[in-house]
Amino acid sequence: MKDTFYITTPIYYPSGKWHLGHCYTTVSCDALARFNRLDGKDVFFLTGTDEHGQKIADRAEEAGVTPKAFVDVLVGELKDIFAKLDVSNDKFIRTTDQIHEEVVQKIFTKLYEKGDIYKSSYEGKYCTPCESFWTETQLVDGKCPDCGREVKSHSEESYFFRLSNYADRLLALYEENPEFIQPKSRQNEMVNNFIKPGLADLCVSRTSVKWGVQVPFDTNHSVYVWIDALSNYLTALGYTTSDDTLYKKYWPAQIQMVGKEIVRFHTIIWPAILMALELPLPKRVFGHGWLLIGGDKLSKSKLANVRTEIVDPAYLTNRYGSDAIRYFLLREVPFGSDGIYTNEALLLRINSDLCNDLGNLASRSASMIEKYFDGIIPNSGKVEEIDKEIIAMGNELYGKVKANLDKLLIPQAIQDCFGLISRANKYIDETMPWKLAKEDTERLATVMYNLAETIRLATIMLKPFLTNSPAIILANFGQDDIDCFSGNVTFGGLKTGVKVTKGELLFPRIDVAKELEALEEYAKSIAPKAVETVTDAKELESKEEIDIDTFGKIQLVTAKVLACEVVPKSDKLLKLTVQTIGGERTVVSGIAKHYSAEEIIGKTVVVVANLKKVKLRGIESEGMILCAEDAEGNLVLVTPEKAMTGGFEVR
Ligand code: ME8
Repeated sequence: MKDTFYITTPIYYPSGKWHLGHCYTTVSCDALARFNRLDGKDVFFLTGTDEHGQKIADRAEEAGVTPKAFVDVLVGELKDIFAKLDVSNDKFIRTTDQIHEEVVQKIFTKLYEKGDIYKSSYEGKYCTPCESFWTETQLVDGKCPDCGREVKSHSEESYFFRLSNYADRLLALYEENPEFIQPKSRQNEMVNNFIKPGLADLCVSRTSVKWGVQVPFDTNHSVYVWIDALSNYLTALGYTTSDDTLYKKYWPAQIQMVGKEIVRFHTIIWPAILMALELPLPKRVFGHGWLLIGGDKLSKSKLANVRTEIVDPAYLTNRYGSDAIRYFLLREVPFGSDGIYTNEALLLRINSDLCNDLGNLASRSASMIEKYFDGIIPNSGKVEEIDKEIIAMGNELYGKVKANLDKLLIPQAIQDCFGLISRANKYIDETMPWKLAKEDTERLATVMYNLAETIRLATIMLKPFLTNSPAIILANFGQDDIDCFSGNVTFGGLKTGVKVTKGELLFPRIDVAKELEALEEYAKSIAPKAVETVTDAKELESKEEIDIDTFGKIQLVTAKVLACEVVPKSDKLLKLTVQTIGGERTVVSGIAKHYSAEEIIGKTVVVVANLKKVKLRGIESEGMILCAEDAEGNLVLVTPEKAMTGGFEVR
């Protein structure tokens, strides 16, 4: 029987535009899943979407549709993106799947019946964007410790999970299983920042959130989104259902890959829940770094401000192909740290590694075999000392890639493959086939054989990372594509006497300067229209002239947005808490159709600070936010051109 290998990504919030950062975890897991399948394991690879919670309900309301209709569109888009990137997941779970919801209810009931969940009342702080509860002591400068945003005071009757009971068992888990949290630095963070200061019981139900899984025995409550979400790793396998074959076969997971900001949920809350359910624990939780753009994490809210970098995965994959995008994602983010996306970095990677190294080696070698041996791969005969290194490297490649992937060092595993590719390019320069063609055809045959064999081995080992070009290269060299490494990864397995074709250029060289311009043009074309043009300002009706003193009566001041939320039952209004002249104040603004609440937080805007207070939907608005309006009625916030906090005069 094959060893099993269950690998999971986090499930994604369908709350806005998808970006390249969302593809990072899934493509990384896909590479690991593909490697392990080829390595003879019985793999189950899970990804999906996390569709409940207030944040999604708010977004749907802003869009004027039901939460389910809202998420359906985004889930469809994510599935399309994953398909474009050749993601080979065995299942895509949605937390709105009926079976998932039923099993979450069973899990909640079981924990309640065991006494691990009890009813009490909650007094604390809640961060809406992170869907996280915090105690006063956990806040950093009064703000959410995960995202730095404002938190809201919160009090309600709630169910609690006895997380505090599990502190010792969690510490013992980390101690006895040093591999459980990876990289190691994240373990120290969990122990020192969360467990040692004292674990509080976790609030696991809400009465105010209707878009969620109902607590079955108290239907006023919905299950806290993180309990709902984390359970997906079990529900996807049919845990507690009439068909739990997958669960029996694959649980516990070998690898649960998550972004660094959600390691806490996966290494404290999740194992504690599993302990309470008396289930085996996952073997490893890996907290990876982020893909950054201009120093900031790619995030849905920042996308609105990204003008020159394209981070739309569907666009990029259509333009450069899935191999290029997968390669960039897998190669560019170092183990556990952050990587930076720029258009230039992407193009340079394509040119230097895929075009110059891989593409060039394959096409140079194929051309030489065509030229010197009528395209037929010759047998090896005359081996010389110089061949030993490349043969040894070819033989060692599988072992090296495997060792690196076992440690989740994906970029290093790719570098192993490219190390052999560069060595082969150098081997051509050293052996000088063009000279041998005149002097020693027997030796030339061996050199061609060694090159073709090196290409075969490197290409096979690239299969987990690149999903198109390896099969094409193997076919061009008359070799069979493989579906398992065993028996195929040692030097000498090359089929000879077969026909080589040069084929089309796999990775045509990109003119970086021209391409950057083209990308910039495209970025401009998709930028919000208001940025592009101020349509015919002349058409505006002129107003009565005023003198400078009259203008001086209007107090314009910068204001930093600290918090923002949609005004209930309104599709136009946002309620903003801003820091400006005189401290904090509330301003209600009719921009909800143009900006989401999340996107506005952190921006510095301009307010008319001395406008008479008005009540809008029962909320007192102390000022007005300045926006420009284009011909189509799009509103664009007026913001200072340089970074600035609130409270400065605008004149
Ligand atoms: O956290 N670079 O969902 P999510 C790398 N629903 N990874 C990134 C990234 C970036 N720029 N942006 C996002 C959630 N991610 C929860 C998970 S699991 C039971 C519930 C990664 O859509 C992020 O780090 O906000 C996280 O691992 C994943 O995308 C989902 O993020």
